[in-house]
This record gives sequence, C-alpha cells and structure tokens, in this order.
Amino acid sequence: MTVLPKAELHLHIEGTLEPEMVFELARRNDVALPYRDIDDLRARYRFADLQSFLDIYYANMAVLRTTRDFHDLAAAYLRRCPEQGVRHAEIFFDPQAHLARGVPMSAVVEGLSGAIGEFPEVSAKLILCFLRDQSADSAEETLRRAEPHLDDIVGVGLDSAEIGHPPSKFATVFAAARKLGLEPVAHAGEEGPPAYVREALDVLGVRRVDHGIRAMEDPDLVARLRRERVPLTVCPLSNVRLGCVPDIAHHPLPAMLAEGLNVSVHSDDPAYFGGYVTANLAALRLSEDQLRLLAANSFESSFVTAQARERYLAEVRAWRP
Ligand code: ADE
Ligand code: ZN
Repeated sequence: MTVLPKAELHLHIEGTLEPEMVFELARRNDVALPYRDIDDLRARYRFADLQSFLDIYYANMAVLRTTRDFHDLAAAYLRRCPEQGVRHAEIFFDPQAHLARGVPMSAVVEGLSGAIGEFPEVSAKLILCFLRDQSADSAEETLRRAEPHLDDIVGVGLDSAEIGHPPSKFATVFAAARKLGLEPVAHAGEEGPPAYVREALDVLGVRRVDHGIRAMEDPDLVARLRRERVPLTVCPLSNVRLGCVPDIAHHPLPAMLAEGLNVSVHSDDPAYFGGYVTANLAALRLSEDQLRLLAANSFESSFVTAQARERYLAEVRAWRP
C-alpha cells in the first residue's frame, strides 16, 4: 500500500510540539514545568472546548526560546512528512505568543525557515497567524515586525479564540498584508457562527477558510461556498477533541463532500489531538474516490505554482491504495 500524496494546509507548528519535546526543551532551556512527567502532561489533554485547549497550548510554548528550538520543532514535523504523504505544507505559526515572552521575530522565522531549507523533499511555506483575541493594533505591529522576513512567509492567517472576535476586527491588517503580496486565510466557523465565514470572505478577502464546519448550518452560505469553490481546510480529530462535533460519526465532512464543497482534510494541532493527517483521514472511513478527491482538493487549494499543482495532481491520479 502506498501513501496518498497530499498537501497539509492547516497545521500549527506549535501544535506539533509533542510532550517529549516539551520536556526536552524545558531541560535545555532551564524552564520549570508544572507537570510531574510526560504522562501527567498527556493526561491533561482532555479539552472541553477551544479555550481549554488554547490555555495549555500557549502554556507549553514557554519552552520555545531560541532559533535552535524553532528549528528543531519544524525539523521534527518535516521529518514525518514522507510517511504522511505530505508533499507540500503551508505551516501556521503564532509569533505574538513568542514575542510576548521576549523571543525575537528573527529567532522564530529563521529557526522555522532554516529547518524548511533542510528538507527539500517537502516544499514548505510559512503562514503568519494573528491572534484574534489580541488587539488589532497588536496584529498591525506584528505585521510590521515581520516585514524584514517576508521572503520566508507566503500568507497571513487568523487564529486563537474565535467567539467574540469576528474577522472584521482585522480588516485593516489584512488589507495591509494583501498589499504586501501575502495570501490571506482565516479560521472561521470552527466554534464561531456562519456569519464569521461570510465576514472572512467579504471583509478579509480570504483565499481559504480554515475549519468552516459551521457554514453547514446556513444553506445560502453553503451554496455560495460551492459556487465560488472556496477552499475549506477541515480537521476532524480537532473538531471532535474540542467538542465542536459530538463524535467522529457525526462529523460533517462527508456531508460537505456530498454538497460539492472544496474541502480538504488536515491535522490542526496533531500533538494534542491524537494524530497527524493520515490519522485524520483514517478516522473518517472514506472510500478510495473520496480520499483521492480530498487529496486533489488539497493541492488545488494550495498556493503552489500552476505547474507544481499539475505535477502533484498527476501523482494523486496515479495513486493506488
Ligand atoms: N490555534 C491553534 N489551534 C487552533 C484552533 N483549532 N483554532 C483556533 N486557534 C488555534
Ligand atoms: Zn487551526
């Protein structure tokens, strides 16, 4: 059996920080952890909702301090890509969470992009995410600090606690990012209402919607997403673990496919949610045709060149399970 080639379009690099690496980096950087051991940490990965996950996700980032730490984090992820069939990855990072601890933007970006350069078998790009539960001014300051590094960054995203922080709050910074040639994407319709998906499209001008599962509550929005072939990057294990859907049997991905939406499947924060992209696909128990369609959608929705896209799509067509 060969692994299905695919693009990973919804992965937070900080969400690949495995418990083992939390402890290794804590030792290296002399950071005190409030956990007895790895099992104690893992036992806390039971989340009631998005916020309860974010609390521990941000707390664990305390161990990431140096260029080398960010390098090692990205290298550990990229090393897994061949076994996952990931040929291309557009990787989110959350600079505001690191700047707040005194880590310079250069350490974050140079560490991550240094690792990317060491894995030519995966074409990987970075997407800078703004934390929507921080101010619009803070997002604008973050974009200014990223300007010297734009050769390493393909786009901007919007993540963190969704409810109460609509996309329109970030209209100005997204307009500035688009002017700089950055591709706009945003989390919307994960916990938040379908109206946030509309705003992400109409106000931020996003090229992709991350999650978007709550769009299914709004038939007019579904019709628009189908008509405009808006890419939706869906993360089933995340949705189950954060209580956005009751269980995997009730996940809307099959219904989204049946509606003819341009969905693809990704892993969000695999160190926290029980698996990388192949585990997310396996959990859904899909047919060969559905798997091939999801993989083709992932390349169609990526920011690769038209030439690279055709090459990847040919690989998807040639795939035999
Ligand atoms: N940051 C990391 N994972 C996230 C998620 N699933 N939703 C919003 N922000 C996030
Ligand atoms: Zn996400």
